[in-house]
Amino acid sequence: MADRVVGVLGAGYVGLTTAACLAHLGHRVVCVDSCGSKVADLRRSRTLIGEPGLDSLVREGLAGGRLWFSTDLGALAPAGEIVLCLPTPMAEDGTADLGTVDEVVPALAGIAADCAVLAVKSTVPVGTSARIARRLDRADVAVVSNPEFLREGHAVDDFLRPDRIVIGAVDPAAADRVAALYPGVPAPVVRTDPASAELAKYASNAYLAMRLSYVNTLAELCERVGADIGPVAGIMGLDSRIGTAFLEPGPGWGGSCLPKDTSALVHTATTAGLRSDLLRATITANVEQRNRIVRKVRTAAIGHPAGSLAGTRIGVLGLTFKAGTDDLRDSPALAVVAELADGGATVTAHDPAVPDPPVPGVHLVDDPVLVAKDANAIVVLTEWPQFRALDWAGMAELAHGDVVVDARNVLDPDDLRAAGLTCRGLGRPVAREAVP
Ligand code: UGA
Repeated sequence: MADRVVGVLGAGYVGLTTAACLAHLGHRVVCVDSCGSKVADLRRSRTLIGEPGLDSLVREGLAGGRLWFSTDLGALAPAGEIVLCLPTPMAEDGTADLGTVDEVVPALAGIAADCAVLAVKSTVPVGTSARIARRLDRADVAVVSNPEFLREGHAVDDFLRPDRIVIGAVDPAAADRVAALYPGVPAPVVRTDPASAELAKYASNAYLAMRLSYVNTLAELCERVGADIGPVAGIMGLDSRIGTAFLEPGPGWGGSCLPKDTSALVHTATTAGLRSDLLRATITANVEQRNRIVRKVRTAAIGHPAGSLAGTRIGVLGLTFKAGTDDLRDSPALAVVAELADGGATVTAHDPAVPDPPVPGVHLVDDPVLVAKDANAIVVLTEWPQFRALDWAGMAELAHGDVVVDARNVLDPDDLRAAGLTCRGLGRPVAREAVP
């Protein structure tokens, strides 16, 4: 293995994680990205991606001479295997935009080594591996689907200790070469055809989205019938057929993957002549979830779920799409904030990972306590654990109103009650939260 070179195309969070982890697994890895400043930073071990463990793996790879970076596609020429990690963002019509892939593949055709294997790690619609093979037009180069299942904030761990390694290949020998990229990785290797591997990635993300839309709907139902989503989800999760993960209600699912992939799957289904009502309802329920949080904040601030917020101040805790990342892409928190600001509220926000105002009109503060200043209501939109231990008594003194909407159920209602505040979580009976 010592002389093999593996190429990684793209140094985004998937590409860089892939390159650094492959180097950690013992491969010699060249990672190519068209962005000159990014490559210059990476050569100096500056990743600028807040993934736990990634910086040290990049440093380890550079220091050990097993990892290097280039802007030149030609640097992939010695690679026996090339792992494609290019972005496939959502186009305006909800489909996956394959523009970057389509642009790069013909250039790769003139560069890839004889009998190279191209492993497609990017999330791409069913049929894309076959389409890449056609555009590549190299009979000696096998194109294999090898989708990633990396969560932001856990990407290194998910790469080195995944639940499964999926390899969709027509040629079993090419599949063997992709499997050999993961020596010692403790996971079942699922070998299948390319279309099934490609679909499995979308199917997984859309299922997670569906589960969350379901749990958010259940949380609303709990509030209406006097039940508590905590035990309800806990009891569901103890059923081994269901499992405990992804049952926390929130302001809606977001980020750079679940929304784009669910939307793209609807398009795939529609193109295949399928109605896909369940997937569409998953998306509709997610929009409704954000509106539901806005209505809760309005009720907390002005005593009514509708009506203008003009003249009110709302304090916001958390802006990223989930805790443990600085990523704001498709963050439900931003959608809620925009809606509150549009409704006339003055919004003051704090997020430990966001140094600059992400949307116009939002005032950012470094000290989370200060979001409470003159606030008619406070809302928690990202589940940063440190919010639990804030000086809630101090915040109660600063605030104008006394209600905190906890759209992540991260706070302890008893702590807030002791501070003189009322915590309105999701899916919890009001009696448990109200000031006695
Ligand atoms: C997601 C998938 O989880 C990864 O397996 C996949 O590889 C990745 O997309 C991708 O396609 O690249 P990620 O985008 O990092 O990973 O986000 P998740 O951790 O899945 O969270 C998605 C959303 O669900 C967030 O807004 C989060 O706050 C929300 N969520 C998650 C909840 O509201 N409740 C939960 O219980 C769990």
